[in-house]
Amino acid sequence: MTAQLIDGKALGAAIERGLKADAEEIGGRRGAPHLVVIIVGDDAASHVYVRNKQRACERIGIKSTRYDLPRSCDPEDLMELIERLNEDEEVDGILVQSPLPPGFDEVMVTEAIDPRKDVDGFHPVNLGRIVTGKLDGLLPCTPSAVIRMLESTGEALSGKRALVVGRSRIVGMPAALLLAQRGVDATVTISHSKSQDLRRLCLESDIIVAAVGRPGMIEADWVAPGAIVIDVGINRISVDGAGKLVGDVEEGAFERASWMTPVPGGVGPMTIAMLMSNTIRAASMRP
Ligand code: GUN
Repeated sequence: MTAQLIDGKALGAAIERGLKADAEEIGGRRGAPHLVVIIVGDDAASHVYVRNKQRACERIGIKSTRYDLPRSCDPEDLMELIERLNEDEEVDGILVQSPLPPGFDEVMVTEAIDPRKDVDGFHPVNLGRIVTGKLDGLLPCTPSAVIRMLESTGEALSGKRALVVGRSRIVGMPAALLLAQRGVDATVTISHSKSQDLRRLCLESDIIVAAVGRPGMIEADWVAPGAIVIDVGINRISVDGAGKLVGDVEEGAFERASWMTPVPGGVGPMTIAMLMSNTIRAASMRP
């Protein structure tokens, strides 16, 4: 079996086309939706991600403003900037790019953002709403992308055994909660660094969501024939001296899965589409 591709680039582009009409409608009513992105320091990958987010804003008609703070800045400066943006009626969404330099408390920074402007969906209020079954707010972008990509296959997900590999606050844990939601109805297992016999857990799963950030950690023959694989990993490795992006799942898994996301061109572009969707949602929830 060779897997059918879950094309994040094409799915993301289709979602963006719909959002463009929404942005125009909001723009005509009360000015374009406005996303502010804050980046601290000079992490090269973060600069690429932020540039991609700004380009998506341009495509859709979302105003974007970027603040670049030096890595030597005082964490208090960042908190003051967030406070100011929380109060600013012209700002609909605030995103602080991760990772922050040493000395910054990412959780504290996330909690400082007004939950109504938290387009990353990382604020405890927004994460907590998932537990209560309220899915009409700002959901975290990558977990939303995972669900949308699974649904795009048209396969029945109800009752299927889904394994989430990784339990991070921003991907693994919320992805597991969304998979278990009424309406998706998967039977969910969360595995992590202490889990025993990951190979067996993978082989028993109909759906694998890999979100660990370790290149090729899930070996091709751990994937059960016909399983659906969503690879969240974006890992930069060196092959013959050249840089290459690879996922958490070995590429050979394409020969076993029924559906699989590529890296690059899978979860990455869909996550950006979900961020744009949250920005439109944040704007439409505000007066
Ligand atoms: N760094 C890597 N991915 C993300 C993301 O989705 N949001 C933020 N804020 N930072 C990130």
